[in-house]
Amino acid sequence: MPYNTFRIDVKAKYFVEINSTDDLRLLISTDEFKSNKRFILGGGSNLLLTKDFDGIVIRLAIKGIKVCEEGDDVYVEAGAAEVWNDFVQYNVNKGYAGLENLSLIPGTVGASPIQNIGAYGVEIKDHFFSLEAFEIETAEIKKFNKEQCEFGYRESVFKNKFKGQYIITSVVFKLSKTPNLKLHYGAIQEELKKRNILNPSIKDVATVVSEIRVSKLPDPSTIGNSGSFFKNPIIDKATFERVLNNFPDVVNYPAGEGNVKLAAGWLIEQCGWKGKQIGNVGTWKNQALVIVNHGNASGKEIYDFSELIITSVFERFGVSLEREVNTL
Ligand code: EPU
Repeated sequence: MPYNTFRIDVKAKYFVEINSTDDLRLLISTDEFKSNKRFILGGGSNLLLTKDFDGIVIRLAIKGIKVCEEGDDVYVEAGAAEVWNDFVQYNVNKGYAGLENLSLIPGTVGASPIQNIGAYGVEIKDHFFSLEAFEIETAEIKKFNKEQCEFGYRESVFKNKFKGQYIITSVVFKLSKTPNLKLHYGAIQEELKKRNILNPSIKDVATVVSEIRVSKLPDPSTIGNSGSFFKNPIIDKATFERVLNNFPDVVNYPAGEGNVKLAAGWLIEQCGWKGKQIGNVGTWKNQALVIVNHGNASGKEIYDFSELIITSVFERFGVSLEREVNTL
C-alpha cells in the first residue's frame, strides 16, 4: 500500500530494494529473478494494481544529485530514486532553470523519462540530456541520448519497444542559468497577475505552478490517485471536424500534422462524470481527468469505473480514451 499512490492493498511474491548497480547485478544472477516475472517500481504514482503480483517487484533506491558541468548551461544528474519534486526544487533553489513548470508532479526522477512527464507547456524532453539504464539481458549499463529515447506525448522507447528490458538508474538534465520561462498557460498568467508579479523568477513560477496543482489536483498523501488517469486523445482532422460540428465548445489544441488534441477532462465532464462517485471510486471534483480512491477501493473497482468513463465518452463523442496509468 505505501508503494502506490492509489493506495491499493495487494501483495507481491517477492519484493527487493536496490541501492546500487552492483545490487542489480547480484539480483539478476539469482534463480528468483530468472524464473519470475518482474516489475520495476518507481514512486508508484502512475500505477493501477488490480491483483496480487505473482513475481518479483524491484524497488529502486539509487539516490544522489550531482552537478556534472556548470557554465551558463548546467548539466545535473540525479539518481533514479530521487523524488521528482525534490529534484525540481533543488534546481529552482540553485537558479537552474527549465523544470520549474514541472513542480509537484508525483513520482521519481527515474520514472520521469518513461512517460515523458509534462505539465503547463513543458515536458521533460525539453530539458533532458541523457540517461543511464541497466540492461537486464546483458547486465551492462547503457547510455541513452534524447533521440534514442524517442520521446512523444507521454511516451518513450521504455514504454514501447524496450518495455521491461531496462532499469533506468540515473538521468541527466540540461538546465540553464538564463531562464527561458514558459508562461503561456492561462492558469499561470492569471496567478501571476493576481500576485502582481510582472517579472517572475523561476522560483515564482515554481510557486505558482505548485499552487495551481494544489488547487486543482488531489494530494496523493491524503486521497489515493495517480494524476491524470487518461491521456488527452489525439485525433485526425476529419474526426475533429465531426466532433466540432456537434460540440462547438470542445476544448482542443493543435497537435501537429493536422491532428488535434482534445481535453479529456472536458469530454469526461460533459458526460456528467465530474465529481461523480460509485462506491469507493470517483473522479476528482475539480478535475474530471483524475480518478480518486475515496476509501478502500480495489484496483479492479477503479479499472471498472474507468471502463464506464471510456464507454460513455465513446458513445457521446466517438472518441476513444486511452489510459495513461500502467495497469498491473
Ligand atoms: N477541463 C474541463 N473539465 C475538467 C478538467 C479539465 O473542462 O474536469 C478543461 C479545462 O477547463 C481546460 C482543459 O480541459 O480547458 C485542460 O485542463 P487542464 O489545464 O487541467 O489540463 P489537462 O489537459 O486536463 C494536462 C496533463 C496534466 C497536467 C496539465 C497541466 C495529460 C494527460 N495531463 O491535463 O498532467 O498537469 O495538463 O499542464 O496530459 C498527469 O499527467 O498526471 C498530469 C496531471
